[in-house]
Amino acid sequence: MKSSATDLFRKTYDETPQLLIRSPGRVNLIGEHTDYNDGFIFPLAIDYAIWLALSPTGDKKVSLLAGDLNDSASFSLESLINTKSGWIEYVKGVASTLQNHGYVLSGWKGCILSNLPIGSSLSSSAALEMAVVKAFSEVSGFAMSPERMAMIGRTAENEWVGMNCGIMDQLASACGISGHALFIDCRSIELEAVPLPGDAVIAVLDTSTRRKLVESEYNIRREQCETAARYFNIPALRDLEMERLQADIKSLDDRVGRRALHIVSENDRVLSTVQSLKENDIPRVGELMYESHVSLRDLYEVSSTELNHIVESAMESVGCYGARMTGAGFGGCGVALVEKDCASSFSEEVISRYKAKSGLDAEIFVTPATAGTELIGLD
Ligand code: GLA
Repeated sequence: MKSSATDLFRKTYDETPQLLIRSPGRVNLIGEHTDYNDGFIFPLAIDYAIWLALSPTGDKKVSLLAGDLNDSASFSLESLINTKSGWIEYVKGVASTLQNHGYVLSGWKGCILSNLPIGSSLSSSAALEMAVVKAFSEVSGFAMSPERMAMIGRTAENEWVGMNCGIMDQLASACGISGHALFIDCRSIELEAVPLPGDAVIAVLDTSTRRKLVESEYNIRREQCETAARYFNIPALRDLEMERLQADIKSLDDRVGRRALHIVSENDRVLSTVQSLKENDIPRVGELMYESHVSLRDLYEVSSTELNHIVESAMESVGCYGARMTGAGFGGCGVALVEKDCASSFSEEVISRYKAKSGLDAEIFVTPATAGTELIGLD
């Protein structure tokens, strides 16, 4: 990917790029839909990433070629107009948000290459946003912490793109640490890097379906959570104890009650997962992952037939500790924790079980936890 991105830049602009940025996607081990409830999450940055090769232009123009999409776009930093469509809006959204926060931006030209499938729940948009924040900070000469980069990306996505996402994807992409999953409190944005076990691997399970309806359904889930928090007169569902919810659940609309039950139990599961991982109790981590899936399927209702098939296929395969859907849901990918020695037989088994259940071809890849958005040396 590294040399392909720089080669594409050379071919496009007839010169060598001055900077190269790698910005990863993420999978979430557990803690789904908890981020916008001020709760806990446990994601990691993955091997699949967006690569951005670029050079400053010394003017106020940004030009970009998206190699995989075979599409290019440009805009002026002096007149940002939201056309409300296409990948370039993520780039403009970041520029606009940075300018609104008082940063003086300089222009650049670049090329993007990515092996992160779009709409697969691996956060290709957050990876793009983080690459672009990094590009502006390098070219315009300001430093920014990864947490702040994540907040800029989230604001861009909420306010410019119109997707009301939480902070997880941007934090995982920006803050990733090699060999570690990130235990994050989404209220304080405190982050603890927890080492992943040496004898288990993380497998991403791509259903080969791409998510649908995600924005409208996502926003409905957010509203239902807010309704429950208002009922209990608390700032967010993070503040709700299970006993209090159970005692009053019948007074809530049935759906709202089930959404709240997912969030409150999921927050507990994240805490137990982190604890179990620290105690090297990997079988327990696996159980918690599957419990999370069942809760997302039955209570939060954001899974899909294919996600259920791939998770069941994984659970039935030799060496699987646990599996679940990952990300917003409604299609895309699952994630599994697998005995290291079984990794390759596991992939084959899941592919064939999933084909039998769904008629579709899955793609399985084992990923290490990687560093977050970073400059890569050009040699
Ligand atoms: C999407 C959003 C995240 C998070 C997940 C669900 O990926 O962008 O903020 O809410 O869904 O956990």
